Amino acid sequence: MRDPLGRNITYLRLSVTELCNLRCRYCMPAEGVEKRRHEDMLTEEETVLAVKAAASLGIEKVRLTGGEPLVKKNILSIAEKVAAVPGIRELCLTTNGIRLPQLAKSLRAAGVRRVNVSLDTLDPAKYAHITRIGDLSDALRGLEAALSAGFEKVKINAVLLGGFNDDEIPALAGLTRRWPVDVRFIELMPMGGDLTQGAFVPGDVVLETLPELEKLPEDGPVARLYTLPGALGQVGIISPLSCQFCDRCDRIRLTADGRIKPCLHQRAEYPLKGLDEAGMRRQFEAAILHKPPWHGELSYAAPSQAGRTMDRIGG
Ligand code: 5AD
Ligand code: SF4
Repeated sequence: MRDPLGRNITYLRLSVTELCNLRCRYCMPAEGVEKRRHEDMLTEEETVLAVKAAASLGIEKVRLTGGEPLVKKNILSIAEKVAAVPGIRELCLTTNGIRLPQLAKSLRAAGVRRVNVSLDTLDPAKYAHITRIGDLSDALRGLEAALSAGFEKVKINAVLLGGFNDDEIPALAGLTRRWPVDVRFIELMPMGGDLTQGAFVPGDVVLETLPELEKLPEDGPVARLYTLPGALGQVGIISPLSCQFCDRCDRIRLTADGRIKPCLHQRAEYPLKGLDEAGMRRQFEAAILHKPPWHGELSYAAPSQAGRTMDRIGG
């Protein structure tokens, strides 16, 4: 379905849980998130119904997110059912990778085609710091499990954090020489985690740090794309702040508590909890019709109006 600006909305980011087995500093408060009442969250049946309703309006691609989607007990069953919804052509997953050693093969068999693994640093001490409780070797084992499970594409997401991992841009981008992965550097968005303005660095530092990057002829919907000479994968730069892409935005989000968010950075939400498929379809229609033209001013002086932190929206 097209929104009033003519943007064709084909992509649903589906958060299946607010919970996570890490506590990344830019994403969530130190104490984690309060576990919500079970009855406030979408059930598996409602989740599948929501995807059916969205597919009937032209959603073709679904990404499972969280929180951390792989801490959800019934994630394989959700994946399998979502992949089987008529009209859904592509099922993807964004994960911190920690549980991929156990789950990668089953996720592939359930119909997940592409996986993004979040990895902000290759230094064990820094990984423990930024995730507050994580172990880098678990994430790397997860990445390797993804690479050997036969996914069509594996990407690494690294949030650019000034004074923290900007010195690792060459090492992170260099992963595309070692493995057939794409590495995407993402500008830190002001979502209200416990990181200060000083941590923001614009995506262009990647180009300044790596002048050998070669521009690819085509960009993605949100990423500017490059390669290192001789590399097996691409390097992408995603700049929600310094270089906005709202005019090409093709997505909407559904939170784990069943609220459609037409825009990541705006407060408006369209609840689905308790509705039948027809009711859900009407809510998706309303959400797409009210998708704002852009997210509005977004900077550290004008932080996101999302009204939730990332862990409660879906990354
Ligand atoms: N800015 C940019 N990216 C973020 N993520 C979480 N919070 C933020 C933020 N404030 C990213 C994670 C992960 C994905 C789910 O979203 O690093 O790659
Ligand atoms: Fe968990 Fe991802 Fe948030 Fe880190 S960024 S705390 S891995 S949901």
